[in-house]
Amino acid sequence: MRGEGCYLWDEDGRRYLDGCGGAFVANIGHGVVEIGVAMAQQARQIAYVSGMTFTTEVVEELASELAALLPGDLDHLYFLSSGSEAVEAALKLARQYWVERGRPAKHEIISLAPGYHGNTLLALSASARPHYAAFFHEWIVDVHRVPAPLAYHCACRGADASCAVCSGAVLEQRILELGADNVAAFIAEPVGGSSTGAATPRADYFRNIRAICDRHEILFVADEVACGAGRTGTWSAVEQYGVTPDIMTMGKGISGGYAPLSAVAAPRRIVDVLARGSGALMHAQTFSHHAVTCAAGLATLRYIREHELVERAHAMGAILQRLASLADLPHVGEVRGRGMLAGVEFVMDRETRAPFPRRARVAERFTEAAQRAGLIVWPNYGHVNGIDGDLVMLAPAFVIEPAQIDELVTLFRIAYDDSVAGALAAS
Ligand SMILES: Cc1ncc(COP(=O)(O)O)c(C=O)c1O
Repeated sequence: MRGEGCYLWDEDGRRYLDGCGGAFVANIGHGVVEIGVAMAQQARQIAYVSGMTFTTEVVEELASELAALLPGDLDHLYFLSSGSEAVEAALKLARQYWVERGRPAKHEIISLAPGYHGNTLLALSASARPHYAAFFHEWIVDVHRVPAPLAYHCACRGADASCAVCSGAVLEQRILELGADNVAAFIAEPVGGSSTGAATPRADYFRNIRAICDRHEILFVADEVACGAGRTGTWSAVEQYGVTPDIMTMGKGISGGYAPLSAVAAPRRIVDVLARGSGALMHAQTFSHHAVTCAAGLATLRYIREHELVERAHAMGAILQRLASLADLPHVGEVRGRGMLAGVEFVMDRETRAPFPRRARVAERFTEAAQRAGLIVWPNYGHVNGIDGDLVMLAPAFVIEPAQIDELVTLFRIAYDDSVAGALAAS
């Protein structure tokens, strides 16, 4: 297997257009030599020291260069490896903060349904993806849910300005039911990942969420593992709403896939409560702040800056909207997303928006057909009712060219004709 830019070649020499960067990871494209060089240099200098004993120049530089890109007062960084670990650490930070501030009753977490925050047990508990948790119910902790602002499936179809789901008011109702004194944090993806097919809440949504969280003293955790690192055309997705979360998680694209790197960002006002109290976030991990992994992150971040790739994601995002032309296909219900993160939802009936029955395995069939045609996409199912609902995600590298976007749309149509069109009959 090898890769270059937006393309992959398998061991038989077959070429694929990588339409989703793996799991929305390969933001700067495959085969960028500079990143490997920076990692090798770091490994030669020092590959690993325990974060409990030392910090390293590369960790400090990454923290300060990343902080400069984050909204508001998010200026302290904690580096881990996976998005799930970052979510676990962010939620633990929220909980520890309240305990150390003398508010031990504040422990409940609220999240959106559907939504995805990872597969380790607390992150899985926060994720509203029932089939991922099917074998582990006994171990899942209670995380409270409010419906995600997925306008396409909302009863109001996105047309009612006063809709409690689409405006975010539903969060306040839930907080009042639980008692604000018991609620520690609300976690949400500013632009949805695969669990909602890149749902983009309306412009006032996160401003309303911010106001509700402030009113009830609840920490707002923005999970930017999928939608961050420039993917929506700005470094963070949440900044487009004009708000700053209390805690932010990042992962996937921050190292472009060259090393497994994730991060939690928090402001001094939160970190200081722990620093003055117990002295540390109770989340030590052997490989946190790993020097080589952080070198990959630093080199990726500098590569993004030097090549103006966030600006490019913004510009190419406008061209990726050519995907909207797929709406003429009889079973494409909606094409949605922001910037370089897009979701295409397949429905059985466009009028009623009814999903295909699960047995038709539409998302999987389409994904297999796309791969046969030479296009890699990311499938998802279950977002409508926990079982049904088929969509695929597109999240190409920011270096994609307009002609390659046209190629993507052409391959999408070939795969559609080869799969979705006959999916019901074949099931
Ligand atoms: C929004 C979001 N949060 C967290 C995660 C978990 O990240 P990881 O798979 O790196 O553990 C994901 C992964 O898809 C994600 O999309």
